[in-house]
Amino acid sequence: AKTHYHDFVIQATPVKRLCKTQHSITVNGMFPGPTLEVNNGDTLVVNVVNKAKYNVTIHWHGVRQIRTGWADGPEFVTQCPIRPGGSYTYKFTIQGQEGTLWWHAHSSWLRATVYGALIIHPTEGSSYPFSKQPDRQTALLLGEWWNANPIDVVREATRTGGAPNSSDAYTINGQPGDLYNCSSQDTVIVPIDSGETNLLRVVNSALNQPLFFTVANHKLTVVGADASYVKPFTTSVLMLGPGQTTDVLISGDQSPSRYYMAARAYQSAQNAPFDNTTTTAILEYKSSTCAAKNCSSNKPIMPPLPTYNDTATVTTFTKSFKSTGKNFVPTDIDESLFFTIGLGLNPCPPNFNKSRQCQGPNGTRFTASMNNVSFVLPSNFSLLQAHHQRIQGVFTTDFPANPPQKFDYTGNVSRSLFSPVAGTKLYRLKYGSRVQIVLQDTSIVTPENHPIHLHGYDFYIIAQGFGNYNPRTDPSNFNLVDPPLRNTVAVPVNGWAVIRFVADNPGVWLMHCHLDVHITWGLATAFLVENGVGELQSIEQASLKDKMEVINSIFANR
Ligand code: C2O
Repeated sequence: AKTHYHDFVIQATPVKRLCKTQHSITVNGMFPGPTLEVNNGDTLVVNVVNKAKYNVTIHWHGVRQIRTGWADGPEFVTQCPIRPGGSYTYKFTIQGQEGTLWWHAHSSWLRATVYGALIIHPTEGSSYPFSKQPDRQTALLLGEWWNANPIDVVREATRTGGAPNSSDAYTINGQPGDLYNCSSQDTVIVPIDSGETNLLRVVNSALNQPLFFTVANHKLTVVGADASYVKPFTTSVLMLGPGQTTDVLISGDQSPSRYYMAARAYQSAQNAPFDNTTTTAILEYKSSTCAAKNCSSNKPIMPPLPTYNDTATVTTFTKSFKSTGKNFVPTDIDESLFFTIGLGLNPCPPNFNKSRQCQGPNGTRFTASMNNVSFVLPSNFSLLQAHHQRIQGVFTTDFPANPPQKFDYTGNVSRSLFSPVAGTKLYRLKYGSRVQIVLQDTSIVTPENHPIHLHGYDFYIIAQGFGNYNPRTDPSNFNLVDPPLRNTVAVPVNGWAVIRFVADNPGVWLMHCHLDVHITWGLATAFLVENGVGELQSIEQASLKDKMEVINSIFANR
């Protein structure tokens, strides 16, 4: 196994999209940021230097971080933010994960432009478990672009209490593509040759938007998701919630030409305004026949895309995922949890200006919660520091295992469930406990597809469905044989999902909706997993540089 060293310099960089230049926060001046490529078993050491004027941290989305919780990255959860002028070194090892993950800023909405792919090739000396090894590989990061500074967008929303402005374009590898104004010159070209197989590593790195993805005239063979392999299945369209990745094989088996790859919104929030535009890249055959036919002057063929509310397609696609290989899904459980997930509306506080600060529906302020608790990050210490150094008063461990009142997904619930209570409440898990969580969409305010992401773990998705989860009848449909292993579950709109994992990684691990607007509003909690056999690596054992940074940031915060 190798160790890979990288420097990430966070800095403002002029980026021109849709005819306008923004001073975007980037890594090393690149948008999207650098692609990291490793083999399973390798170690990454990434020194992040913050030359921007905002606090920042970097999260390695989906990396298990086994006993390296200090390297996970969410600000005020596992570390204090890296201040302007500061730096922090992340060091971690990839253990038993192969496929596609990604990295992104985990402070405010900086991840709008601070993100990149993390590609994990098979362990050195082994090959992909597919019948045909890919001839090429292409990472495709789906994103969103604002004609504004995303930090200003979220600050404005927080100030007014209303919904933030939606983005101005969807993007593939940072480019809107040629269906948008001023974008045709920079449309991403993905090469393929007749007879070749290209492994597409698709990531939904959009801030707030689940997306459909398809390629004209080509079948997509899904082989992995969230850095775990799945039993291959073919489909014409993918749906990814923000945070999810899907690996697909595509064959150069069509007549040499140009074909659009396209992504557009799956409208997860019903009755909400949304953007129906389409981002594109171009799959271009490189073969001589194509050169002779001068393909590049041809207009690419456009694929059909599902309509914005096509939940049936999403359900069929999601149910096709089955894991390969050894299955460690716990059959017995020690912790049975039921978490409601959804939005809420806080009444306008008496000292607020109703017309300026309470621009949610009917003069309210938007909020969001799990089990009626709207999560608030601490502001002086990270949760992990507070736990590790036994600093009192930073958090409590009374996050409820169940919602406080009888719950009905139709939104027909007591008014108090509309107005969650703010708090920094963690749920304590015994090391090694076998955990089941039912995640239930509340449909309060609006039914919505919430991509729920757990840090520090992969979990098995053993069931999902619509309506209210029924504890008497639904367990008979649990898949304990070959459920997919993922780090982000797209909980069905108006429905529920059941996940299981073993709490074998000590630390403090955030679980949240990966629509950033919902984290902003509090749709999160965190698990405190006690140290078990063998300690969580202490700050002292982490590099001296890490230690000094942690200490410095404690003082900087005082
Ligand atoms: Cu991809 Cu908490 O994040």
